[in-house]
Amino acid sequence: MPTAIVTGASGGLGSEVTSLLVERGWEVLAQYHNQPGAEKDAIWWKADFTSGAPEFEHLPHRKHIHALIHCAGTATQTRCEDAFIDDWQEAMALHLIGPAQLTNQCLPALRQAAGHVIYINSLIALTPEAEWAPYCASKAAAKAWLACLRQEEPGIVATEIFADKIDTQQRRTVLAKSSMLYEPDDYMQPEAVARVVARLLDAPPEIEPSSVMLRRSGR
Ligand SMILES: NC(=O)c1ccc[n+]([C@@H]2O[C@H](COP(=O)([O-])OP(=O)(O)OC[C@H]3O[C@@H](n4cnc5c(N)ncnc54)[C@H](OP(=O)(O)O)[C@@H]3O)[C@@H](O)[C@H]2O)c1
Repeated sequence: MPTAIVTGASGGLGSEVTSLLVERGWEVLAQYHNQPGAEKDAIWWKADFTSGAPEFEHLPHRKHIHALIHCAGTATQTRCEDAFIDDWQEAMALHLIGPAQLTNQCLPALRQAAGHVIYINSLIALTPEAEWAPYCASKAAAKAWLACLRQEEPGIVATEIFADKIDTQQRRTVLAKSSMLYEPDDYMQPEAVARVVARLLDAPPEIEPSSVMLRRSGR
């Protein structure tokens, strides 16, 4: 049975990825921050990526890890002039330092399995938008980290998904703080994005899907 680690598995996208992989026969080591998610057949472990230097001591040990899927993240809107040190530190810890540290901890097991790292990035890492500086900067930093990882670790695959809006709690929270109305057609459904993640894991070994952009289609 292949083993996957999914971070942010208690949230919108991570939860869908976890359920889909369990359904497909994977062992899923599912990270949560506050409370475990609904998937009963996952193995839940707790970590807070923003608490100093995370060491992930609750992560169950495995000799082989076939996939590490980084879904943990929060999107906090703030103007540049209002961003405090805490805002920058939290965004960098959650979107860059935590994922990089966890990946390092898993590298021996990922190498053993010729594993696949998938990082859920955002389109606004590529085209930053006003009032999102800490989020955009931390996601852009993750893009640079993954580019280096890919060159240094030819035995593992590293894929980034640059996603547009996904209909999850993160988006609902952003909407609730704005004057925008909820338009369902603007969003991708998290289960549809999870299916793309699963398809990427099925890529033939000689193919490295290094980056994928996902937008809501008109269909
Ligand atoms: N939603 C979108 O429109 C969208 C678009 C592009 C990219 N993304 C990216 O996709 C990923 C998944 O987003 P989502 O929409 O599924 O978000 P979500 O529903 O808000 O879920 C976020 C997940 O991250 C975990 N998390 C939050 N703070 C954490 C911390 N300090 N340490 C460890 N884990 C923490 C949450 O755990 P708890 O629930 O236990 O706090 C939850 O499992 C994120 O990286 C996000 O930036 C989202």
